[in-house]
Amino acid sequence: MGVPKHLNKIIVAGGNTLEGKITVSGAKNAVLPIIAASLLTPEPVRIDDVPELLDVDVMCQVIGAFGASIRREGSQLYISTPEITSVEAPHDLVSKMRASIVTMGPLLARTGRVRISHPGGCAIGSRPINWHLKGLEALGAEVHMDHGYLDVKASALKGARIYLDFPSVGATENIMMAAAVAEGTTLIENAAQEPEIIDLANFINQMGGKIRGAGTSVIRIEGVKEFSGVNHTVIPDRIEAGSFLLMAAATGGDVFVQNVIANHLQPLLAKMEESGVHFREEDDGIRVLSDGIYQAVDVKTQVHPGFPTDLQAPFLAFLTRGKGTGVVTETVFENRFMHVDELKRMGADIKIEGRSAIVQGVPRLTGAPVTATDLRAGAALILAGLTAEGETEISGVHHIDRGYEFIVEKLSRIGAEIRRKSD
Ligand code: EPZ
Repeated sequence: MGVPKHLNKIIVAGGNTLEGKITVSGAKNAVLPIIAASLLTPEPVRIDDVPELLDVDVMCQVIGAFGASIRREGSQLYISTPEITSVEAPHDLVSKMRASIVTMGPLLARTGRVRISHPGGCAIGSRPINWHLKGLEALGAEVHMDHGYLDVKASALKGARIYLDFPSVGATENIMMAAAVAEGTTLIENAAQEPEIIDLANFINQMGGKIRGAGTSVIRIEGVKEFSGVNHTVIPDRIEAGSFLLMAAATGGDVFVQNVIANHLQPLLAKMEESGVHFREEDDGIRVLSDGIYQAVDVKTQVHPGFPTDLQAPFLAFLTRGKGTGVVTETVFENRFMHVDELKRMGADIKIEGRSAIVQGVPRLTGAPVTATDLRAGAALILAGLTAEGETEISGVHHIDRGYEFIVEKLSRIGAEIRRKSD
C-alpha cells in the first residue's frame, strides 16, 4: 500500500479555488464484500477498478488466511482460492477492519464453518452484528461465542424468509452470500438497497448465482451448488465522488468529477441544488461551477435511497461557510459527530442538540491543527482546510487512507495546496 507510515500528517493551505478534472476510484464499500464473495468459487476471479486502500489490503490478507492467493496488477486484482485451508479469521486482522465480518457468509457457504473474532465497535458507534447472526441462524447456522471468537457451523444451509429489523448493509451482504448456496429459496425483506448491494449481487450472478431484487427492499435468492470464476469491474465510489463534489462547491472553481453514476448521488445533488451550487451532469461525470457562495440547507441521513451517512461529515463541513443556518441530523450511527469539535477549532459555529448539529455559517474558517477520527471526518477536515485561511495540519491520516485513494495527489492536480508531512 502506497503511503509510507511516517508521513502521518496532511497539511492543507486554504484559499485556492479548484480547477480541472478529478477521477473517482472504484467503490471501497463494493469491493470489500466482492473480495469476500470470491471465496464462493475455487476458480480464478479478476476484479477491475480496485482502489489501492488500506482496507482492501486488509481484506486481501483476511481471505489469504483462508487459503486465497491474491495478485494485484495496478487496479486489477487476481484472486484464486482452489481450496479453503483455514476457516479462522485472525483477530489482529478483524480488529483492524470490522468489514472482515462479511467473510462469514461466503465461508459458511463454501465450508459450513467459520471462526471469526467478534469485531469491536469503532469511533462512530458500537456496531453490533446481531442482525448478521440472526440471518445466518435463520439459514441453519449455529453460532457460539468462544473466548471472543464467533464459532459458526452450518451442516446444511436451507433457504428461509428473513426480515431485517433495520436495512443493515453488512447483514444484507452476509445473508445474501450464505443464501447463494442455501437449498431452496431465501427472501430477505427490509433489505439494504445501497448501490454496493447491487454490485455484489451482480458479481455473484456473474459467477452463476440466482439473486433477484437487489437494490429493492426484497431480495430473492435461489441457492445454487457451484460458482464459476468471473471478471468484474467495481462501480465508482459514490462517497469519494460526493466528497470531491462538495470540496469543489465549497472552495469555488470549475471541477469535472469523472467516473460518477449520477443516480447513485441523487440525494446529494438535490441538496447541492437546493443550496444554489451550479453543477451539470455529463456523460461519465459531473461538473461543478461554483463561486464558493451558497445557502445553508437542512439534511437528514437515511439508509439508501436517502442521504448517505457517509457524506454527513463532508456535508456538515460544507455548511460551515453556507449563508444562514443548516441542521444536520444523523439517524444511522449513534456517534458520528466527532468532526464537529475539530471544525469548531477552525472557527466553525456548530451546536449539537441530540442527534442534530445546528450549523451557523461563518464568513471564513482559519487553519488549525486537527485530528481525523474516522475516514469521513478526515474528508470533512480536508474540505474545511481547503477553504480556511492559513494552514490546517491534519493528524490521524491513516483513517483517510483507508477510504480515499491517492487523495493528496488527486487534489493537488486540481490546484489544492495539500501535502503529506511526517511528525
Ligand atoms: C456499511 O457499514 C459501510 N461499510 C459504512 O461505511 C456505512 O456507513 C454503512 O454501511 C451505512 O451505509 C462498508 O460497507 C464496509 P450497517 P455496515 O450494518 O454494514 C447498526 C465508511 O465510511 N447495526 O448498515 O456496518 C449499526 O450499528 C463506512 O465507508 C446493528 O445494530 O452498516 C449502525 O448503527 C462507515 N446490528 C446501523 O445499524 C447489526 O447487526 C447501520 O449499520 C448491523 C448493524
